[in-house]
Amino acid sequence: MLEPQNPNRRKLLLRWVQGFSITGLGFLAYPFFKVLMPGLSEDGFLEVDYQELAIGEWKSVSWLGRTVIVFKRGVGWTQTAEASGLKDPLSQASSQPQFAQNPERSHRTDVFVFYSNCTHLGCEVAIHPDQAAAPIQCPCHESRFDGAGRVFAEAVASRNLEVPFYRPIAANAIRLERVNPSDGIG
Ligand code: FES
Repeated sequence: MLEPQNPNRRKLLLRWVQGFSITGLGFLAYPFFKVLMPGLSEDGFLEVDYQELAIGEWKSVSWLGRTVIVFKRGVGWTQTAEASGLKDPLSQASSQPQFAQNPERSHRTDVFVFYSNCTHLGCEVAIHPDQAAAPIQCPCHESRFDGAGRVFAEAVASRNLEVPFYRPIAANAIRLERVNPSDGIG
């Protein structure tokens, strides 16, 4: 004679099977994830090598659901801090790590790393290397930014472009890191 099935045992068994299935799917998906984001480590870093960039060129990477642009800028593509016509020349009211709170807004004078979203309504900005005085521009409402992402006074955007937290790790490579800029690290 068959024993009546214990409903608690069936539930327990079902949970075990579900648990193993989810873990197995995670292991299967991991290699594909690594292929899609080759520089992303388990610790949440993203290493970006930009040695192929010439002046006026840039590369985009996906970082924490947003696009980050690494832009190789030319000499004189950032307005001086004294330059009139910038809303926030020293970036005192802008979102950035401490290391970027200066006229260059970067670890290096020739490279600018920034989030691609315009600070007005979030459109993706475009780069115009042929317009050195305002090489970053927003196609939506024509806000213009200098080579350090500092917004010009006549723009509808009120703040400079955001700078993510990163560290130089080689002559032409950086590592984006998951750090809150308000932590003051940098
Ligand atoms: S979204 Fe960029 S100017 Fe409006």
